[in-house]
Amino acid sequence: MKRDLRQKFVVGNWKMHTTATEAMQLARAVVDGIGIDGMGVKEDDRVFVMICPPFPYLALVGEILKGSRVLLGAQNLYPEKEGAFTGEVSPTMLLDLGCKFVILGHSERRHKLGESDAFINHKVRVALAAGLDVILCVGETLEQRKANQTEALLDRQLTCGLADVPADTLIRLSIAYEPVWAIGNLEHHATPQQAQDAHAVIRRRFAQMFGEKSAQALAIQYGGSVKPDNAAALLCRDGVDGALVGGASLIADQFLAIVLAAISASRTKRKSA
Ligand code: PGA
Repeated sequence: MKRDLRQKFVVGNWKMHTTATEAMQLARAVVDGIGIDGMGVKEDDRVFVMICPPFPYLALVGEILKGSRVLLGAQNLYPEKEGAFTGEVSPTMLLDLGCKFVILGHSERRHKLGESDAFINHKVRVALAAGLDVILCVGETLEQRKANQTEALLDRQLTCGLADVPADTLIRLSIAYEPVWAIGNLEHHATPQQAQDAHAVIRRRFAQMFGEKSAQALAIQYGGSVKPDNAAALLCRDGVDGALVGGASLIADQFLAIVLAAISASRTKRKSA
């Protein structure tokens, strides 16, 4: 899809939450909150907003999002077009349901479901080839951070996760930096400086892999306990191009407050540019 890649991009990852009724109510509240005029925001400084409900509610939520500015994304896929893969969901099915994006390599899939870098890489390549835009999540554990391994870990997850990705699909790829220790965690939050530093590491590595021009065009979102009270400080940092929001995306008012913070960060940036 066509968008300014570095325009602020706020994504709600609902994970394995909501009933069908709750999913519809939440989607409706987000759509109504943003409104057709984009919260009264002028055309030129719109942020991109997406929600990623659980698979069973994609169709229901997709109906509600139709005609709105809110995009539909999926939380995962299986990297085959079709076949005997009981319980799995293909890229074709996601596209069929109106999904534009898929989140891949989320830390919960890496750490709780044992997904390897190689498997994630396979998914990234298949998703991009199928025509989906991809958000690839990377991030270190607390132990890795304490042992000063953050940079090496990000390097490995990017090198493996993006191996053999064709250069002409890079415009449909974003990275989400999600330190594992900050996800769903009220005690450990990444500071804006920690987020900015990690984003710079990711952009540097990306430049080594794909060239400076691609790295400058790359959107890097921050994820890990983004809430209304810390969103503005994170989103105004250099190189923080958006937010991947878990817990706070389940409460419409909180998610909308984060979208507003992204709008004002993008306005400030534009004024100072
Ligand atoms: P959180 O989740 O906002 O609840 O920390 C973020 C994520 O896992 O994408």
